[in-house]
Amino acid sequence: MVQPTAVKNEMEGDVYHPSAEVVSEAYIQDYDKMYQRSMDDPEDFWADLAGELDWYKKWDQVLDDSNPPFYKWFVGGKTNIIQNALDRHVKTYRKNKLALVWEGEPGDVRTFSYFALNREVCKFANLLRSMGVEKGDIVTIYLPRIPEQVIAMLACAKIGAPHSVVYGGFSVEALAERIEDAESRVLITADGGWLRGKIVKLKDIADEAMARQPTIESCIVIKRTGQEIYMEAGRDYWYDELMGLPISNSQSETVQMDAEDPLFILYTSGTTGRPKGVVHTHGGYMVYTYSTLKCVFDIKDEDRWWCAADPGWITGHSYIVYGPLLNGATSFMYEGAPTHPYPNRWWKMIENYGITILYTAPTAIRGLMRFGDAWANRHDLSSLRLLGSVGEPINPEAWRWYYQVVGKERSPIMDTWWQTETGGFMITPLPITPLKPGSATKPFFGIDVEVVDEEGEVVPPGEEGYLVVKKPWPGMLRTIYRDPERYQQQYWEKFKTKYQTGDSARRDKDGYLWIIGRMDDVIKVSGYRLGTAEVESALVSHPAVAEAAAIGLPHDIKGNAIHAYVILRSGYEQSEKLGDELRQHVGHEIGPIAKPEQVGFVESLPKTRSGKIMRRLLRARALGEPEGDISTLED
Ligand code: WT7
Repeated sequence: MVQPTAVKNEMEGDVYHPSAEVVSEAYIQDYDKMYQRSMDDPEDFWADLAGELDWYKKWDQVLDDSNPPFYKWFVGGKTNIIQNALDRHVKTYRKNKLALVWEGEPGDVRTFSYFALNREVCKFANLLRSMGVEKGDIVTIYLPRIPEQVIAMLACAKIGAPHSVVYGGFSVEALAERIEDAESRVLITADGGWLRGKIVKLKDIADEAMARQPTIESCIVIKRTGQEIYMEAGRDYWYDELMGLPISNSQSETVQMDAEDPLFILYTSGTTGRPKGVVHTHGGYMVYTYSTLKCVFDIKDEDRWWCAADPGWITGHSYIVYGPLLNGATSFMYEGAPTHPYPNRWWKMIENYGITILYTAPTAIRGLMRFGDAWANRHDLSSLRLLGSVGEPINPEAWRWYYQVVGKERSPIMDTWWQTETGGFMITPLPITPLKPGSATKPFFGIDVEVVDEEGEVVPPGEEGYLVVKKPWPGMLRTIYRDPERYQQQYWEKFKTKYQTGDSARRDKDGYLWIIGRMDDVIKVSGYRLGTAEVESALVSHPAVAEAAAIGLPHDIKGNAIHAYVILRSGYEQSEKLGDELRQHVGHEIGPIAKPEQVGFVESLPKTRSGKIMRRLLRARALGEPEGDISTLED
């Protein structure tokens, strides 16, 4: 059942201790004591952290657990995440501090002080208001990695309109079904974005998606790449032209929200069917992203933080946009590919901007590692003091390369385990934590995790089991948008009072946690989360395909790669050309990340008697592994 991963935990014996210098700078000096306090009195613990932020009105109750699993945090409290991400800072010396430093792939640079970022957000917020966007309306954002992506999200938050950001690497059907589920009337997109020296034609994709989902009444288009695009009169508007109208100015009211009001919806892949809209709130999510980033990456005023993810994923929401701004930090953001035009691009930018903390994914590290050490060694990386990893288990080879070649053995690696659903880091080292390569180490404060068997009983150290969370936490998802039953069933049915993560893990004798991988039909490809069901439904939407199955198989750089098996409809002949066409079709529907590595043509697929495809068996066969229990296999 368990997904294959690249991790071999052969390094379990090795322990890396942080330097005295790193330890002396750390906010948290005693993990055990603080963790114990967070377990003894979680409400008191979270109230203290929430108290470090501004509220229009303080909460009456920290946690309302009267209707599990529909937990509520900071009940009765009034805030808006913008109150703490921007409004608070522009009243202090941070007004003139850089909030965002951005470099485009072609090499253009833009910077925003807190004052300037706030001004742009105010303008965009007024613009949205003038287009009739009201509190509670969901705005879909489909942009490349440019500053306007951040500005648009913040503007939505400011006026209380939940944003639904769709990753710019997604394509037509992925965008269309997200627009449909959110019933968005406003879409924010761009003419294109730069990737590997080429233009990704976002507006063309958006046009096709809007044709499939005509709920969009207004489409705001940001000019990034400048090529000719189609603009539909009465529907599509250039952002620059709108910003020039007299409605825009720099003053804009931040709407007071209930702590439990939704801040955003972010769609993520699940076991079955369509992506689910994970709902996060203004209050709890704010407290959680603020505290996790502060404690784990020790954010200081003088830091230059770089989270190399895309704002279109939860990593970017929490740690490019909200976490850094809540902490008043300076965040760096880069538009394009790590190897463009040469494999030294990242190292050059670290040197140029004096990056002090780099947070990225194992797949990116492996991708850069294959070009050798020289590219990194050519640059001065001595500004780095902490490193981070996220998205999938990091294999010890990549860990050691990151530690030695990038961090010069001075910077500990924070291997953070978490999920779209958890809002922020859940299992993670702190700068003071002795590290074991490949282990995310221990739970964050207030996070009560356990490794259990099928019956929910704790398994002994060293044994693999289901990773569950036993206490609610402020950053947890509140529900699945428009589908509370799915929320209950997906996360709370199997173990009742425990949140089911979908991952398997084991705890070693020192209490360190080792994440093994997904136990369900979710595949992590280059750290991106995809469902086998989505790939399969994209395949069967092609006229040649009668049935399809998708599985993940190990891949050196991507961690896992998608392999597909299809049964053709009568009248179609298998050929290399058709295989390639099907791969392109999946790319067109979902996005390039979902393109199968290989499409195999088969006469039949192994199924259970109740008709479910046995992907486990397909995987075992592809890997030449034992087939295991096949008693449920239909004849
Ligand atoms: C899944 C969640 C939340 C950040 C990005 C991914 C895997 C995430 C780690 C890690 C081992 C990890 C898990 C998890 N995962 N971080 N440090 N070590 N596995 O968010 O797309 O919701 O995916 O990513 O399998 O369940 P996501």
